[in-house]
Amino acid sequence: MLSLNFLRILYSTLEIASLAAFELMEEQRVAKVLVVYDSETGNTEKMALAVAEGAKQVDGVNVSVKKADQTRLEDLLNADGIIMGSPTYFGQMSAKIKALLDESIKIHEKLEGKVGAAFASAGGTATGAETTLLSILEAMLVHGMIVQGRSDDKHYGAAALESPNEEELKFCRELGKRTAGLVLKLKK
Ligand SMILES: Cc1cc2nc3c(=O)[nH]c(=O)nc-3n(C[C@H](O)[C@H](O)[C@H](O)COP(=O)(O)O)c2cc1C
Repeated sequence: MLSLNFLRILYSTLEIASLAAFELMEEQRVAKVLVVYDSETGNTEKMALAVAEGAKQVDGVNVSVKKADQTRLEDLLNADGIIMGSPTYFGQMSAKIKALLDESIKIHEKLEGKVGAAFASAGGTATGAETTLLSILEAMLVHGMIVQGRSDDKHYGAAALESPNEEELKFCRELGKRTAGLVLKLKK
């Protein structure tokens, strides 16, 4: 009787363990895209939400959105793709995005092979959005991340003039979808 109870307990323990292992495997199989952004007046935030919307259009991809100052290094490590957005500050990424990237030196070499992409909001045209995009992409390349360009338009990522208009939001969605598609392709 005692041994029968023991067998029952053993069986249910094994069942729970195998279920947990299966869930872990499933979790590891899901492609994860993290959209990280900074935004003081909401323009880059609107872009971030559009980027996430585009990424969510890809089946099999789990998308999360976080502000840079609420993003932990663990979030970067857990993601298969990181799409980073910043307002243009003096032609560069904002201090909060830079702070996160500077902190990420602690996990240097651990982001190798993840997919990266960038978006930026600016106060004008030809006033620094592209240099901001490139400053983010440069940091991603230093991490050994994979950055896909685009040949037909918006070669470096998505950009918007202050509050994004419908066309700029479309490019944000496309950036999200395209990046998530690449993440999924590489994950297989
Ligand atoms: C400190 C500071 C520096 C800025 N520098 C630039 C700049 O060099 N070029 C530019 O086009 N806009 C510049 N801007 C404007 C912002 O990039 C623009 O308003 C952006 O849309 C703000 O995004 P947010 O609403 O997500 O904060 C600057 C704004 C601030 C506050």
